[in-house]
Amino acid sequence: MYGQPKVLVTRPIPQVGMDIISKACDVQILRCDTPPSREELLENVRGMNGLLTLLTDRIDAEIMDAAGPNLKIISNYAVGYDNIDVEAATKRGVMVGNTPGAMTETTADLAFSLLLAAARRIGEGIDYVRKGKWETFKPLELLGRDVHHAALGIIGMGRIGTEVAKRARGFDMNVLYYDHRMRRDKGRSTGAVMCDTLDDLLARSDFVSLHTPLNEKTRHLINTHTLGLMKKTAILINVARGPVVDTEALCEAIEAGRIAGAALDVTDPEPLPSNHRLLQMPQCIVLPHIGSATVETRNKMAVMAAENLVAGVTGGVPKYLVNCEKPAVGN
Ligand code: GLV
Ligand code: GLV
Repeated sequence: MYGQPKVLVTRPIPQVGMDIISKACDVQILRCDTPPSREELLENVRGMNGLLTLLTDRIDAEIMDAAGPNLKIISNYAVGYDNIDVEAATKRGVMVGNTPGAMTETTADLAFSLLLAAARRIGEGIDYVRKGKWETFKPLELLGRDVHHAALGIIGMGRIGTEVAKRARGFDMNVLYYDHRMRRDKGRSTGAVMCDTLDDLLARSDFVSLHTPLNEKTRHLINTHTLGLMKKTAILINVARGPVVDTEALCEAIEAGRIAGAALDVTDPEPLPSNHRLLQMPQCIVLPHIGSATVETRNKMAVMAAENLVAGVTGGVPKYLVNCEKPAVGN
């Protein structure tokens, strides 16, 4: 429709979000089940006032410049925004929105599912039965580790980390956390105890669960050195971002028996090639980045991302703005 703001949605999102957008905007949607190619993105952003992007879209200065001077907002359908060059956006007066809070508990549920699955070897058990190996009850088969009364180390005590701590309390776990902002108060509501150093947390934990954003401080936070500080019996859980873990170092640590295993919803690279070493290891569980994948949460995210987008292209400020330093007066 002539006169309405022009927006690009880079992949189909739940209908509740599309309904909000199409009422207020002239929408173009890339109807594909996989991420658009770089060329496709560069071509389709041209002249847009707003973009609704996914964590699989790399949105950098080149894309912003291809969109041109009328671009007002990039609304990311995710809480994480490491796929967007926020500094480049701010410089161009482009607002960046995200969807915090929507998936907090849903992602914590998945982290805890992974913890339980890895501890009790659920994936191996399912395979065992499916492959017809279940002959009888065996005293020494598929022995896992107790979750109750074990020590859980949470790295990054933000919203999701806090929800994981709450779940762990219900299982009588001893919850430790490390938070680089040293937010001592964060443990109070959940009974979690703060460790003053990451090394201390790693040395004491039976399960280590990652809940940090991906940035230059957290890239490869889990590497050969930090894996070496963990217990030999420990299990690593990652529902945050793949590159927080050095994949090569993790493979070596598991193969050498320096840690017991890993349960990952995010990997580096993503997707993991189907012949990857990690997928050959029985002590390793890999899921295809489904932390927020419930009907309720994806609907909530769609509404938040759509409202952010519409606010941004109609002269307002999105409710969930990432670059809250005021974007440069722009364009
Ligand atoms: C998912 O990984 C998100 O950041 O929302
Ligand atoms: C994300 O929602 C977080 O702060 O953990």
